[in-house]
Amino acid sequence: MSDQPWGYRMQIKTVGVVGCGLMGSGIAQVCAAAGYKTIVREVDETFLRKGLGRIKKFLEDGVAKGKVTPEARDATLVRLTGTTTTDALKDCDLVIEAIVENLDEKRRTYAALDPLVKDHTIFLSNTSSLCITELASTTKRPDRFGGLHFFNPVPLMKLVEVIRALTTSDDTYQTVFTFAQSLGKEPITAPDRPGFIVNRLLVPYLLDAIRAYENGLGTLEDIDKGMTLGCGYPMGPFTLLDFVGLDTTYYIANIMFDEFREPAYAPPPLLKRMVLAGQLGRKSGQGFYKY
Ligand code: CAA
Ligand code: NAD
Repeated sequence: MSDQPWGYRMQIKTVGVVGCGLMGSGIAQVCAAAGYKTIVREVDETFLRKGLGRIKKFLEDGVAKGKVTPEARDATLVRLTGTTTTDALKDCDLVIEAIVENLDEKRRTYAALDPLVKDHTIFLSNTSSLCITELASTTKRPDRFGGLHFFNPVPLMKLVEVIRALTTSDDTYQTVFTFAQSLGKEPITAPDRPGFIVNRLLVPYLLDAIRAYENGLGTLEDIDKGMTLGCGYPMGPFTLLDFVGLDTTYYIANIMFDEFREPAYAPPPLLKRMVLAGQLGRKSGQGFYKY
């Protein structure tokens, strides 16, 4: 943690993360690595073990690549605690929710946390597409609520989007922006509109790639190769879709389509069918490619 002008370190010492999936595990890792006592909650021991295992593997790989020192790995793990109870988050100064992209599930999470945590505690959502103002309005702390949107893989991607709800106070916004910087991230301020800045542009591109593939544009491999070698993108659209998760992409597309009512956001039939078939991408071992 670096020194900050308005002494927010006095306020934020303990960070809670709800969800230890693809994103929650990365978020918990970077919070603990930045010096915060971090408590991450999952629904059960199996999911928790899997999420914490992902963090340990990432740190081990980092050591093997010479990117993380053994001391930093150990210090990160010491600051990190896993739990399956909501109660364990009661002393957190800031809670980042990174559970499934579903309004009702997220609402239930905040409703359970709201009466438990301290008055000053800030709630943040890592949602990709849901309305931050709507989430904030379901809590007793709409002024201490915001969006903090990380990118996958969290430990490697520099960007975070900071999103103000209509109700977010200036203090909360400044604290969150500085908190993001303290994690070693580059924050940008994004509007509370579905997809914020990055997904507003990325999601139609990914959905269009699926539609184009369904319409016979080319093989998965050729389309991916086209975008990596032709445009310098680090991953082609199908590799990226598998990486993000087809379930998450499908939920995001539905939420964005629901709000914008524009065909560009409508989930393509193939995406829906793959999700129904459990072909969720890397996380399930099969998506557009096999893993
Ligand atoms: N610990 C520490 N550092 C590590 C590491 C580890 N475990 N693993 C890799 N690194 C480092 C590497 O050493 C390397 O560092 P240098 O650049 O200094 O050499 C760097 O991270 C890149 O790693 P690799 O060379 O192993 O891998 P790569 O070059 O293939 O890059 C990637 C991997 C960063 C994931 C790249 O493929 C990429 O950027 N992909 C696109 C990801 C993307 O678009 N994400 C956004 C998804 S959308 C989203 O998140 C929003 C949403 O709401 C859906
Ligand atoms: P994921 O499916 O990998 O993980 C979600 C995790 O949340 C699961 O492990 C699940 O068990 C857990 N969970 C569900 N309800 C819970 C609860 N009440 N308490 C604790 N844990 C709970 O999904 P993900 O990809 O990590 O996405 C999580 C959030 O992050 C979503 O809002 C998504 O839109 C957003 N997001 C995803 C990406 C991405 O690339 N996948 C990028 C940025 C933001």
